[in-house]
Amino acid sequence: MALWTYKYRPKRLDEIIGNEEAKQVVRSWAESWKNGNPQKPLLLYGPPGVGKTATAYAVASEYGWDLIEMNASDTRNREAVERVLGAASQAVSLFGGRKLILIDEVDGLSPKEDAGGVKAIVEILQRAKNPVILTANDAWSPSVTPLKPYVRLVEYRRVSPTQLASYLMKILEREGIPYDKDAIIYLARKESGDVRAALLDLQAVARYGIKITVDLVRDLGFRDREANIFEVLAKIFKSEALIRPFILTATLDMDPEMFTYWVVENIPREYEDPEEVAEAFRWVSRSDVFSGRIIRRQYWGFLSYSQELLVNGVIIAKKKPYRKFTRYSFPTWIRLLSKFRERNQKRRELAAKLGKVFHLSRRRILSDVFPFLPLWMRKREWAAEIIHRARLTDEEVALILGTDPSDPRVKELMSAAEEARKHHLRSRS
Ligand SMILES: Nc1ncnc2c1ncn2[C@@H]1O[C@H](COP(=O)(O)OP(=O)(O)O)[C@@H](O)[C@H]1O
Ligand SMILES: [Mg+2]
Repeated sequence: MALWTYKYRPKRLDEIIGNEEAKQVVRSWAESWKNGNPQKPLLLYGPPGVGKTATAYAVASEYGWDLIEMNASDTRNREAVERVLGAASQAVSLFGGRKLILIDEVDGLSPKEDAGGVKAIVEILQRAKNPVILTANDAWSPSVTPLKPYVRLVEYRRVSPTQLASYLMKILEREGIPYDKDAIIYLARKESGDVRAALLDLQAVARYGIKITVDLVRDLGFRDREANIFEVLAKIFKSEALIRPFILTATLDMDPEMFTYWVVENIPREYEDPEEVAEAFRWVSRSDVFSGRIIRRQYWGFLSYSQELLVNGVIIAKKKPYRKFTRYSFPTWIRLLSKFRERNQKRRELAAKLGKVFHLSRRRILSDVFPFLPLWMRKREWAAEIIHRARLTDEEVALILGTDPSDPRVKELMSAAEEARKHHLRSRS
């Protein structure tokens, strides 16, 4: 399966979305070259994922020019430089077409360590008898300064969410994947104009094989650069050896309960022998006993125990691994439980608040901090500090403690937080 960023890479300038002005400049620049009027090299600059590199590719393919490509960091490699230098300084042959030189990410060079690289690029720019395109995220980085006299700057901007959304919808239609319009608009906004990131996210959610809804994008739209749930499930279902579950699940953006639902949903999809299915479910329920204890007694030592039983129980439930491709599925019935969804939403809001206090991403909070929160909350001063600093509501404190807001423990901690707040005010004045 090809990455959509590759499959849908623009092959003509018109296929690049947004950035009308920039494309106009590039278009007339390329036309001039085509008509035999040499032009100053272009430096395309702007945020990542908006089509700078893609522009160079599109020009080359549309005009039928050979693309000679070099990443700026290759300038440490003299051979690569010579190759590009050779191509750049060679005028068009009588029969051959033009060459387009692309030097990507010139702001990645360090002006000190890569001084030689910067010089090599200047040399290429001075001697170029062929069209040259440079790209950079930041046109004001020190390594770019010495290049500026030789280039024409062309700014690339983020693509508007509306344009991005309609582009994404076109792709989904071509792929035959059903979607809610709102979900795509949500996704386009979330990526704030980064087309590459949006495509990666879109492909990640499309892989679930179900209609793309706002919930799906919100719940599962994490980019699967790190471990993703499908790989983790495949490891569990296909493995013959026991696994340390922590290693598997540490990079998943998912709480243990949700993870259990995923496993449960997919047991009958993977295992075909009813005995195996039954055995796997027995292990799930043993593991569940321990997660029940976690919630009741807040003994988080059981967390790893519970996961251990779940993962390794499911592994040993099979007689031998199935050599087939299983299309693992999202735990569909969860959608029906609005209570779960609501709670999930609240957890996310809570994680975002805590993230500000701990200076951690929401994902890290969910995976690394959440399991220990109830433990920390047992220490009154710590609890007070966290509640006060993150401005938690009693509902949120109850959520952490696994109880409801009327619980006296919640009241107690809220008043401790209030004391902490007053104390801070006093010490500030
Ligand atoms: N403006 C755009 N129009 C269409 N596709 C785009 C656009 N910008 C990025 N993409 C997609 O994202 C991928 C990466 O974009 P790229 O041009 O490498 O970004 P950068 O601006 O960081 O150089 C492209 O292959 C293409 O699939
Ligand atoms: Mg690029």
